[in-house]
Amino acid sequence: MEVRQRVLILDYGSQYTHLITRRVRELGVYAETLPCWVDGSAAPSVADGLIGIILSGGPNSVYDEGAPQLPDWVLERGVPLLGVCYGMQALAFKLAGRDAVARGSRGGEYGHATIERVDGAAESVLLRGMSRTTSVWMSHGDSVAKLPQGFRLVAKSESCPLAAMEDAARRLFAVQFHSEVTHTTEGRILLSNFLYAICGAEKLWAMESFLEEAKRKIRAQVGRGRVILGLSGGVDSSVAAVLLHEAIGDQLTCIFVDNGLMRAGEADEVVATFRDTFQIDLRAVDASREFLTALAGVADPESKRKIIGRVFIEVFEAQAKQLGDAKFLAQGTLYPDVIESVSPKGGPSHTIKTHHNVGGLPEKLGLALVEPLRELFKDEVRELGRRLKVPASILNRHPFPGPGLAVRCLGALDAESLALLRAADKIAREELEKSGWMAKTSQSFVVLLPVRSVGVQGDCRTYGRVAVLRAVETEDFMTAGWARLPHELLGTIANRITNEVRGINRVTYDITSKPPATIEWE
Ligand code: XMP
Repeated sequence: MEVRQRVLILDYGSQYTHLITRRVRELGVYAETLPCWVDGSAAPSVADGLIGIILSGGPNSVYDEGAPQLPDWVLERGVPLLGVCYGMQALAFKLAGRDAVARGSRGGEYGHATIERVDGAAESVLLRGMSRTTSVWMSHGDSVAKLPQGFRLVAKSESCPLAAMEDAARRLFAVQFHSEVTHTTEGRILLSNFLYAICGAEKLWAMESFLEEAKRKIRAQVGRGRVILGLSGGVDSSVAAVLLHEAIGDQLTCIFVDNGLMRAGEADEVVATFRDTFQIDLRAVDASREFLTALAGVADPESKRKIIGRVFIEVFEAQAKQLGDAKFLAQGTLYPDVIESVSPKGGPSHTIKTHHNVGGLPEKLGLALVEPLRELFKDEVRELGRRLKVPASILNRHPFPGPGLAVRCLGALDAESLALLRAADKIAREELEKSGWMAKTSQSFVVLLPVRSVGVQGDCRTYGRVAVLRAVETEDFMTAGWARLPHELLGTIANRITNEVRGINRVTYDITSKPPATIEWE
């Protein structure tokens, strides 16, 4: 991606860091995140289009041993700077030394607060267009106690006398509150002021320009070479497939491996969408027998995952070899899969997800990687997908784990249990869709337990299987709450499953959050 202007977000380990990056991009400016300990030589400079730097919040106190500080190169770049929360403290500590930051004596300040622009700061460019008093989100232990030389106070709150400060001449700004969260009602205005009025940003980051640039870049990378892509039917690989197809047409071959662990109708839908509608060269391989044979008698969840991963690679490799002349392997890797976030201890904590991608495959096959989505967040991928006319049914899909129904059909797998689960899951999905609750939940599905319970159906006593309905709401899938589905809907789903799926005589609803439970049952 050729970026003419970029803002660097220096990550001090706050849970909100990536929200800053997203907000900046939503405002039309390209932003990227780097850990705060990055060496200046590895960070963008003005020659790379750098127009501003934002220092994120973080869990440390500047007085902690080994706490991350503000590196010299950041100020030496000479571009406007915005410190947020810990970023403000790191800036003050750097410029004003030891007594600039006060230890949080009363355990800090967390939650809603009201800030007030101080008299004499009416012309502050950072706060331009914001109300004189406005609601913000605070989440800090320490706070800045002394203005560094050249700075003036621009906003205060009752418990935080130095809520915002600036040195407009040097273009250094800082706020104690989190301007990036929606609880800070006018945070968007503040960020927009920083970007447009202070950094001189132009609105250059839009999906339209990304799309054209991405196609150009793909063509430049692959030339006339053949590209293969493992298509799962999920959002990322689907958007990557359509994007590549627009860029290089028939040089792209997609391989779809049906592992026999998909939901009802899914394999057919993938083939219909990509082969028939998009006319992509799609090889669909029915490998369900290989997978189920390898999984026979295996009950341990991690063993199941490993087997599925191994068989996938074997099947994919065989297909790729048949194609012979492939030079590139395309993957739908996203920005959050690529970036590292900073652990509270200062070192890097690797959060790279490997299960999304085909770990080790490119090296094994001797293929070069093509990752056209690696600069995008999920919602940006969805927007790109809309532009590429990828059907909404794919773009709005809930995440579905790589090992598929294998981790929802508990214990050892057999064809009969998988069929029961598929039928029950189909009914639940139909009812969730019909009632509008599919879109209101982040992930919802059925799990089949490896136990039987006694029931009575008609005049007969039954000894049938137990299905569990699971529906959760979450932002990031790291934590999740169980969805408060209406009783009516729960009743309908239970009725239909027990009436229509012979072999299941009981349906329960999982009312556990994550933590302590996980979203999946295995
Ligand atoms: P848990 O169960 O850990 O799930 O709360 C969090 C999210 O990750 C998905 N998940 C997986 N995705 N391969 C995947 O591709 C896996 O092995 C896997 N396990 C869990 C899960 O569906 C949820 O969205």
